[in-house]
Amino acid sequence: MLKLIKYIKLREWLLFLLSLVFIFAQVFLDLKLPDYMSNITRLVKTAGSDAGDVWRAGGMMLLCSLGSLASSVMVCFLASKVAAGFSRRLRAVIFEKVESFTLEEINAFSTASLITRSTNDVNQVQMLIIMAMQVVVKAPVMAVWAIMKIAGKAWQWSLATGIAVAVLTVLLLVVLKFTFSRFKKIQWLQDALNHAARENLNGIRVVRAHNAEDYQEKKFEKANTDLLENSLYVNRVTTLMSPFMSLTMNCLSMSIYWIGAVLINSVASGTAAAVELRVGIFADMIVLMSYAMQVIAAFIMIIIVIMIAPRALVAAGRINEVLETEPKVTDGTRDGNTGLRGEVEFRNVSFTYPGGSGAVLENISFTAHRGETVAFIGSTGSGKTSLVNLVPRFYDVTEGEVLVDGVNVKEYVLEELYKKISYVPQTSVMFSGTVKSNVLFGSHAREERLEKALGISMSEEFVDELEDRENSEMAQRGTNFSGGQKQRLSIARALSREAEILIFDDTFSALDFKTDRELRDALNRETEGMTKLIVAQRIGTIMSADRIIVLDEGRQVGTGTHGELLKSCEVYRQIALSQLSEEELAL
Ligand code: CTP
Ligand code: MG
Repeated sequence: MLKLIKYIKLREWLLFLLSLVFIFAQVFLDLKLPDYMSNITRLVKTAGSDAGDVWRAGGMMLLCSLGSLASSVMVCFLASKVAAGFSRRLRAVIFEKVESFTLEEINAFSTASLITRSTNDVNQVQMLIIMAMQVVVKAPVMAVWAIMKIAGKAWQWSLATGIAVAVLTVLLLVVLKFTFSRFKKIQWLQDALNHAARENLNGIRVVRAHNAEDYQEKKFEKANTDLLENSLYVNRVTTLMSPFMSLTMNCLSMSIYWIGAVLINSVASGTAAAVELRVGIFADMIVLMSYAMQVIAAFIMIIIVIMIAPRALVAAGRINEVLETEPKVTDGTRDGNTGLRGEVEFRNVSFTYPGGSGAVLENISFTAHRGETVAFIGSTGSGKTSLVNLVPRFYDVTEGEVLVDGVNVKEYVLEELYKKISYVPQTSVMFSGTVKSNVLFGSHAREERLEKALGISMSEEFVDELEDRENSEMAQRGTNFSGGQKQRLSIARALSREAEILIFDDTFSALDFKTDRELRDALNRETEGMTKLIVAQRIGTIMSADRIIVLDEGRQVGTGTHGELLKSCEVYRQIALSQLSEEELAL
């Protein structure tokens, strides 16, 4: 929690200070009330006093109450404002931080947990701030102030109040002992619940098709029940607090009256002075009653904060974990002007996934010069995606070097590196918005490139048929478009930027053969100066590449043109033979 304090801005500190003024006003007014009450008691009990004085004292009491009410509304208002502003900032910082994460960090936290951390966890902290601002200063001030006022009266009363406070403290400690670890657990269970819900929604079509609703429900049920049990446990234990608190309070008021009665009785009766004394004790008792209640009330407020604090502290810790995680991929210092353009080189690159057991890529070396097309082929799981992911530094190499335009990718300012590269992932990613906003994604692409990009990527044919053309709505994750259409749009997105290097990770697989061919022709025509790295499963897609790299279980088993590889590389021949006839290959 303390580490998060630095995200509170000056404005909020000022509002906090302002709230202190109202808190002091409120405490002052609350503690003023008993004074008037004792006045009234005296006035009523003393013969010959003026009814007008009673009314005046009553009126002052009313004013004090209203003033206290207004102050407490103000404090609440200010607390909400501070807490809301703070959590808004916190969410923004988390969002920004998560954007800087690589897949490694995101996987380490898990998406579900990152979402709970930026929503539910922030809410917990926000709630604690609201409560704390109203109570943390007020309660001790109130308690100390009230105790000081009690101190002047008979010691028996102070003792009774002290015992009550001690009982409540023990009660609180016992409850905390039983609930603290559970509060921690609840935040993690929230992650699990979120995870189960997300997974189910993302895979809803597969779930339906496999009649796996029951199976999924059971998984969700487990997460849900776990959360229920823990919340119930915590709530049951904390609910016990309430009757015990009332009991203690009632015992205290009883003792105060009892002590008062004993004190009054002990005064010898008969004389006028004695009557005076008795009235005095009686008035003291009334006042004391209110003060004692204020002490207890202050104490209860503290208890409430302490009850919600553990959960919020856990949440704060979890938020802090995200904010303190430094992404493994860090910015370099070099800008993009290196004198070369569109050159990609791998030098003896080996790569192991973080936490993975074995090397996924071993000793890969090749160079792609400006304007060349280099293709990668190999069976499923041979490491093609892993290889191209190293160019935009989605991961960093374990050994060797990846160079872009002659400079190690690690040396670039990340933004400069990304500017050089356009990347189309294996599974197309669409965002809610329009076709246009998806193609001209971000602010980097210029509008006039839209038509061209749609043209080259063969998207025009279906975009033309849409009612609003490029302004047609696209649902989240592009669910209202076909797989092949999404793939073409994501190619268009890559083309709308003026990058030097284009990376296509198996991007043509969802296209029919005819579109595939036309798209490649258009691509070759229009992107002459760009270097293209193409991952593909189909020999036909890559036959005309300048260089083909054949991967087998992460090793580079062949490098050359289609013709060369047919002769020299057995793995390539096998792939080729499985897709094309001997005659086609001979061509
Ligand atoms: N892998 C991994 N951790 C990841 C991604 C992949 O350990 N986060 C492993 C996979 O288990 C696989 C190997 O890395 O054995 C290569 O994966 P990948 O590069 O994705 O293979 P591709 O050649 O791209 O396979 P495909 O054709 O199916 O896309
Ligand atoms: Mg792949």
